[in-house]
Amino acid sequence: MHRISKLSLPVRPTLFLLIPLVLTLLAACTPDNHQSTFGTAGPVAKDQADLFKFIFWISAVVFVVVEAAVIYIAIRYRRRSDSDKLPHQTHGNTKLEITWTLIPVLILAAIAVPTLTDIWAQQSHVPEDQGEVLNVEAIGHQWWFEFRYPDQEVIVSNELHIPVGRPVAFKLESQDVIHSFWVPKIAGKVDMVPLNDNYMWMIGDEVGEYYGQCAEFCGIAHAHMRFRVFVHEEEDFQAWVDGMHTAPDTPLAGSSEASGKNLFAANCSSCHTIDSTAPGSYAREISAQQARWNGWVSDIENSGIVSAPNLTHFGTHSTIGAGLKDLNKTTLEQWITDPSSIKIGTRMQKHAAVYDTDNNKAKLTASEISDIANYLLSLKPGSTPSGEVANNSASVDGESLFTTNCSSCHSTGDDTIVGPGLAGIADRAGTRVAGQSVDAYLRESIINPNAFIVDGYPAVMPGWEQLGTESIEALVTYLKTLD
Ligand code: CUA
Repeated sequence: MHRISKLSLPVRPTLFLLIPLVLTLLAACTPDNHQSTFGTAGPVAKDQADLFKFIFWISAVVFVVVEAAVIYIAIRYRRRSDSDKLPHQTHGNTKLEITWTLIPVLILAAIAVPTLTDIWAQQSHVPEDQGEVLNVEAIGHQWWFEFRYPDQEVIVSNELHIPVGRPVAFKLESQDVIHSFWVPKIAGKVDMVPLNDNYMWMIGDEVGEYYGQCAEFCGIAHAHMRFRVFVHEEEDFQAWVDGMHTAPDTPLAGSSEASGKNLFAANCSSCHTIDSTAPGSYAREISAQQARWNGWVSDIENSGIVSAPNLTHFGTHSTIGAGLKDLNKTTLEQWITDPSSIKIGTRMQKHAAVYDTDNNKAKLTASEISDIANYLLSLKPGSTPSGEVANNSASVDGESLFTTNCSSCHSTGDDTIVGPGLAGIADRAGTRVAGQSVDAYLRESIINPNAFIVDGYPAVMPGWEQLGTESIEALVTYLKTLD
């Protein structure tokens, strides 16, 4: 019979090959890694990391003690020869049983105290004593993030800007499925659940750029659903907020950007808002986003619109595709041409008419794509003073007013976007209300649209009185030219 006299250790060369592999994997734990939870830059992430380390070291001690005992006992009391007999069997040992019950109780109690303390500190209230609280509504969409600043009336997609050292209170929402909001170095992670808002707070302790990631499987592009957080000095944050209320300069006539602006209006503006700088635009974007969602969800297979990132001042963004790639002319052109070459599953490519081709690539020439890219990259705060309505002061050109303010919901042809296509609106307008002139009907429809909702369309259009009489007249004149 085989005699187990020697402990046979299966030390083979292949084992040594595992060592560099394990070291390589461990290198991923470096605090320098963008999504490492070890290099923290905020109190929430730091408390969570400290708690993790505390539990890790307790577990490490338990592991070593238990494994050492197992190995010692296995060697010390192993069967030494064929004549070894079964040892005397015992049952019950009160002292031992009390000991191995008490030790885990003490360990769990030791873990529970800091765990509950941290949960209480992070979930019970926003630490208002640590600075003026900034409110942000973070909304998960398949597959990008929307950030709304209700007090500043700013909306931005995929790139969150916050001031250093101030508590930021988040209301976490989802428009479609469950996502999870996670900024590994600053705070994490809380689920974004449809119809059930969650709340969390965080403080960014160090100025810098941080990676965010959706941390709940939410569909095909889940792993590519990222975002960035920019922590600014207070005055830089205020400058950013002011910039978000400052319209971009109008492209020079005849420039590539001007051409891009028209192409954007024709192909992209039903879903992407680019002008959330004017007063009133915050509420408008919220209702437009809701209308896009309603449009999509009511006809998921055939919808021509989808919820989409707000692209106001897109030229100031650092990334494209929800934090996937650095934003530059090359990546932007690639994105416009064929989004799935960067990020699989984009709804835009499935639903936007411009991608309705055999190979699902954009129905645009290389130079048209270049124009759109140039235009988007040119979108930055311009020289218009903060708070003024773009195009309201100098220009009363009805067509450009329409492009800026109306074209995200109305086409100039027969296609329905959110509202009806406006081709031939002048002919229809004259027949709507007895005794009302075409001009009066159009004017009233702009100022008080809900008075005349056409059956079958959602009552989502806001009034546009703030454009001012001169601009409204210019718009009416332009609308009458559409046939
Ligand atoms: Cu959103 Cu995963």
